[in-house]
Amino acid sequence: MTDRLRYGTPAKVLHWLVVALLAVQFSLGWLMPDVHAGPPGRAMTLHISLGLTILALILLRLVWRITHPVAPESSLPPWQRVSSEAVHWLLYVLVLAATMTGWLFASFRGWSVSYFNLIPLPMLAGKNPVAIHQIDGWHQIAEWALLIAIGVHVAAAFAHIFIYRDGVMQRMLPSRR
Ligand code: HEM
Ligand code: HEM
Repeated sequence: MTDRLRYGTPAKVLHWLVVALLAVQFSLGWLMPDVHAGPPGRAMTLHISLGLTILALILLRLVWRITHPVAPESSLPPWQRVSSEAVHWLLYVLVLAATMTGWLFASFRGWSVSYFNLIPLPMLAGKNPVAIHQIDGWHQIAEWALLIAIGVHVAAAFAHIFIYRDGVMQRMLPSRR
């Protein structure tokens, strides 16, 4: 297996699909009504189903990235190669943390989690009113840490467009023939 020099179409499509879904997911998370006792409402069912879609896509991306490694842009100084790789791995870890803490939250509440009300999914743990508050805190920590990591990642992308003016942003955009 050799390191490729550029991202292929599947990596690009998965990257931008997850970006779009995360934008909807964060907005929905903050706009949906607070949850109270009782089964999840429509907004929460959508939040859970979107979260599970993001989980499936990020796992697919992870498998794709491991089986199709791409070398960092050759013009980058060593510190930028190391830091960009580190932030990319951190983004994977934090998306997984946000989705898994969310799923645990729903499980501790005793909800039966389903995918768009169509496919029932297993609970990750039994109903546990005491653990709800802890996991709620962890879901929020994961969301904020993810948001900060995304901020750093996007700031770096903008620095490459406007300050370094190199081809890094181009690597994640549709290739021109
Ligand atoms: C990357 C994926 C996810 C992101 C970015 C995300 C983001 C958010 C945000 C911003 C909130 C509102 C703030 C809060 O109360 O914490 C929230 C709440 C919530 N999320 Fe997620 N979420 C994700 C995945 C999930 C998943 C997969 C589930 C369940 C299977 C889930 C379950 C919940 C629940 C139950 C709440 C309500 C918490 C409360 O009202 O205290 N989330 N999420
Ligand atoms: C407007 C927002 C975004 C922009 C402009 C952007 C830009 C880029 C660019 C230019 C690269 C290629 C860097 C390189 O390797 O040379 C990249 C890679 C990457 N981005 Fe983003 N990105 C954005 C949002 C996100 C978000 C929200 C995530 C969260 C999951 C993310 C996760 C990644 C990962 C993990 C890679 C490494 C390639 C891979 O493993 O598929 N990006 N991004």
